[in-house]
Amino acid sequence: MKKAFGFLLATAGLLSASFSAQAQDNIPDDMKALMTKYTCIACHRVDARLVGPAYKDVAKRNYTDEQIVELIYNPKPSNWPGYIAMAPMKQVPKEDAVKLASWINTLDGTTTKKSTTKKTTTKTKKA
Ligand code: HEC
Repeated sequence: MKKAFGFLLATAGLLSASFSAQAQDNIPDDMKALMTKYTCIACHRVDARLVGPAYKDVAKRNYTDEQIVELIYNPKPSNWPGYIAMAPMKQVPKEDAVKLASWINTLDGTTTKKSTTKKTTTKTKKA
């Protein structure tokens, strides 16, 4: 009896863990690996504000990849009033910072297949 109950609890725990992992939205596996390795994932998501701004909103600022790399190494908290300051992430090798930066730049809705909330044209969804 006790055993069966424990098993049920463990199963429920696994299920909710995998659900919340899925809810962590549309981050491609390779980017998720980098974001996990360098802890970005603790504070950033594609579509949602966490501790830091949604990457989608960063993408809308139209930085160059180079500028984003620079901001990863030297964040400018004044760019994001209302947020705490991000710590400089100097431990990220340039190569990986560039990968993250160029991916972040694809998230403004113009270059991705998924166009959720674009403001480019008036006919986003069928009327
Ligand atoms: C402890 C939380 C935290 C972690 C970890 C973190 N960030 Fe941030 N990030 C923030 C906050 C808060 C801001 C907004 C304030 C700021 O820029 O200082 C931000 C801003 C940014 C910006 C926008 C910069 C700008 O000025 O527009 C980028 C790009 C960014 N983060 C990328 C990353 C990447 C890539 C990583 C992992 C290598 C990372 N962040 C890790 C909290 C975090």
